[in-house]
Amino acid sequence: MAEIVIKGNKKLSGKITVQGAKNSVLPVLAGTLLCDGECVIHNCPHISDVDISFKILEFLGCDCKRQDKSVIVDASCVNAFSIPDSLMREMRSSVMFLGAIIGRMGKAVISSPGGCELGPRPIDLHLSALQKMGVKITEEHGNLYCDAPNGLCGSEIHLNFPSVGATENIMLAAATAKGTTVIHNAAREPEISDLGDFLNSAGARICGCGSDTIYINGVRKLYSTCHTIIPDRIVAATYLSCAALTGSKITLDNIMPSHMVSILSLFRESGSNIAVSGKSLTITGPKILCRVPTIRSLVYPGFPTDAGPLIIAMLSKADGTCVFVENIFENRFRYVDELNRLGTKIKVEGKIAIIEGVPSLSGASCKCTDLRGGAALVTAALAADGETNITEISHILRGYDDIVSNLQSVGADIKLIKE
Ligand code: UD1
Repeated sequence: MAEIVIKGNKKLSGKITVQGAKNSVLPVLAGTLLCDGECVIHNCPHISDVDISFKILEFLGCDCKRQDKSVIVDASCVNAFSIPDSLMREMRSSVMFLGAIIGRMGKAVISSPGGCELGPRPIDLHLSALQKMGVKITEEHGNLYCDAPNGLCGSEIHLNFPSVGATENIMLAAATAKGTTVIHNAAREPEISDLGDFLNSAGARICGCGSDTIYINGVRKLYSTCHTIIPDRIVAATYLSCAALTGSKITLDNIMPSHMVSILSLFRESGSNIAVSGKSLTITGPKILCRVPTIRSLVYPGFPTDAGPLIIAMLSKADGTCVFVENIFENRFRYVDELNRLGTKIKVEGKIAIIEGVPSLSGASCKCTDLRGGAALVTAALAADGETNITEISHILRGYDDIVSNLQSVGADIKLIKE
């Protein structure tokens, strides 16, 4: 079994270039299905979720090529409309392909994505929006059969929660629908704006991304385009946590400070010094991390749920007790038992984690339960005395491009032991 081995308690120093955002690239890759011709996507991370997206695109008839950090997808020969269950199960985000496949083919078959490591992840908001746009949906034997016999029609859609995935799926379906779609109470995450920018560069007519009302005037077709994925704010938060917890100074290149306001203010509050210069920043971690008032995960621009595990790992050595309230996912704290093996003192009560600061951490064997929980183990292990072995690292590889070599390049004693 592959594992990551870390000998902790080393100061980090140097520079890391932050990868493109996983949560942007996946819907953008789904969007290439709508384009008649080649799309070139730059700043595309090497992560296994992108590999699975490639498999889905190729299964549907696309030609996909990778050249270092750029990918070229040619969707001119799309000839299928179903995603096999095996691929659906490999990646929950495969539900992102639904709106795009219906937009391109007029119908789609996918298996129900079901639950995941963060708890139940329903798609009722995605489905009811598509139904409003003229899609007939039936569920049989765990498959969803979606058909738009008269094509997709623009519609007024009110989301009762600003779901990121549902907003993206509706944008993808509406880009080439007949007429205008308006999404009320839309998600405002930067990844939504990135998808909007990509679709507009291919000929879509979308405005209002970044606000809670998005207008999509359907066009007949989308065309070849070139797009650069925004930097990954959660990966940036991961390296910031590593620096803060080890009291180190590192520089991050390729970041968007305006996407990270709630994250950066928390790092400052807990004692780190952060100097921003254009698209890079330098963090100097404190000698002693300060406790911070209660943190609550919220929709953007609130504190992101995905950064929760990293911040909890960081606050494990704060000079007091901190509280984190998880408001987005029901079952996001499975990694806490694994983190506690390293000597953290974290108690979970429902959606609340109580983090009692400890003076030191110590290496142990532990396993990843999910992507960001796995990254939290890496963060804590870097500050722990002795050796930590982390298994089930496929979770980490879903979203982190070169985490091991990036941390090695700033002086961490970390290695990847392959199977
Ligand atoms: C979520 C995060 C996103 C993060 C991504 C990857 C939020 C708001 N969303 O996006 O920032 O990058 O995970 O980890 O922080 N829900 C329903 N019905 C639906 C869709 C969602 O009830 O049809 C509920 C979910 O159960 C959950 C909440 O809405 O409680 C968040 O959902 P959503 O934003 O859709 O999740 P993701 O798109 O996965």
